[in-house]
Amino acid sequence: MRNWAEGVFALVILLGLGAALFMFSGESLGQGSTATTAPILVDPDAAVRGEIIAGNTGCLACHTINGTPGSGPTWKGLAGSSRPLQSGEVVIADETYLANSIVDPGSQVVAGFDNIMPPEYADSLTEQEIGDLVEYIKSLAS
Ligand code: HEC
Repeated sequence: MRNWAEGVFALVILLGLGAALFMFSGESLGQGSTATTAPILVDPDAAVRGEIIAGNTGCLACHTINGTPGSGPTWKGLAGSSRPLQSGEVVIADETYLANSIVDPGSQVVAGFDNIMPPEYADSLTEQEIGDLVEYIKSLAS
């Protein structure tokens, strides 16, 4: 009787483990697509302001938003992507990178491009304007 009960107990545990494993693998499969690329959350109001600033400040003379590079890299799909730099380093285009690319463009030059982006935006743009531009670029991630 005792052995029978142990057998049932073991079976229940095994079934439970199996179910848990099944659910776990299903869950990790479901999350697999997002695990590698963190979701990009955009402040839509800031993005709209950023679009206007980009037009008024002349960024779009060198950058496109349609995937075709100009004299600078396109902003389409930029946010969250990995950026090969001239230094040989590869970095992820997160908010910090994007903001730094605007205020100190010579510090992380993208491979295949010349270091021709004007360095004066750190002085001519406010923190908020830089943040708005970053939100706009983030909104073009996909
Ligand atoms: C005279 C052309 C020019 C102008 C104007 C210009 N950029 Fe750039 N920008 C470049 C070039 C060239 C690069 C790539 C070399 C580098 O990283 O500095 C670049 C790089 C960048 C990057 C990093 C891109 C990447 O693919 O990783 C961002 C972000 C950026 N610029 C934002 C801006 C913003 C915002 C403005 C306007 C406020 C602006 N740029 C104005 C030429 C320009």
